[in-house]
Amino acid sequence: MAKIKTIGILTSGGDAPGMNAAIRAVTRAGIYNGFNIKAVYRGYDGLVTDDIKPFTTENVSGIIGQGGTILKTARSKAFATVEGRKTAYDNLVAEGIDALVVIGGNGSLTGAMKFAQEYDFCCIGLPGTIDNDLYGTDSTIGYDTTMNTIMECVDRIRDTAQSHERIFFVEVMGRDAGFLAQNSAIASGAEAAIIPEDSTDVDQLARFMERGIRKSKRSCIVIVSESPKCGAMYYADRVRKEFPDYDVRVSILGHLQRGGRPSARDRILASCTGVGAIEAIMQGQRNIMVGVRNNEVVYVPLSEAIRSDKPFDRKLIKVLDELSI
Ligand code: F6P
Repeated sequence: MAKIKTIGILTSGGDAPGMNAAIRAVTRAGIYNGFNIKAVYRGYDGLVTDDIKPFTTENVSGIIGQGGTILKTARSKAFATVEGRKTAYDNLVAEGIDALVVIGGNGSLTGAMKFAQEYDFCCIGLPGTIDNDLYGTDSTIGYDTTMNTIMECVDRIRDTAQSHERIFFVEVMGRDAGFLAQNSAIASGAEAAIIPEDSTDVDQLARFMERGIRKSKRSCIVIVSESPKCGAMYYADRVRKEFPDYDVRVSILGHLQRGGRPSARDRILASCTGVGAIEAIMQGQRNIMVGVRNNEVVYVPLSEAIRSDKPFDRKLIKVLDELSI
């Protein structure tokens, strides 16, 4: 295998707080260890359009505390095609890039895996998504910051909920995973969370109505995982119909959740996994995601990282249930 000299770096999919800290870490650790670094702009689109520039340590100065991604990001349609990936490969070869570090979520790492298999190219993933839905890492870059943002929002919403004695359904992101909803519900002292990992929709609302508001509370907050059909609006409408005495409101937090300065935890996770990515390349690792488990940096095959069944700790459901009486 030819020696790797130049490493490309890109961010892809939804931006997440801490991506800049990861870009900084890969760039600095790469240069420290003698590699050239090239920045690919606008996710995989930048590979297809050859939007690639050399990076120095100055390019990443002062970015550790900034949200978003200085490399821009995209959900590339071009890279999803065979022709797009061929053009991407040709551009990588022309740029002299021998390895690629991809910072992104499930879709982005799936793209990296496919590309790595098709072109026998060294791809290293970093878990960059607020959803925390990548297998084999305890947390993903952006998840902790977003959880804190949701918690702050819910603390504020509670002022109105209590003052007006209302039920609030607060919808949070997470795509198909309930990690954000369940844990932010615990952190904000919400009365319930409705998540995809739990039982059916009907059961979750009925169970909560029985248990919660009817017994001891006149106001409450339910955190709802986003869902095309059964989001916060759906549950609010149901309560309005089935329990017309209650005053119901909906708050959809939307992209407010994805922005902002990364937390210390996310900066540290991004820094450690970024350094881990360069170490992995030096060890000859290929086609893995760098994660952290039990405070140890781990290498997870990309095929495993993108599994859709990351374990959900069901004890968290019990914790919320018991504390929301
Ligand atoms: O994957 C991150 C995420 O924020 C999801 O939680 C959400 O479903 C999705 O991206 C929203 O994507 P977009 O910003 O493209 O609307």
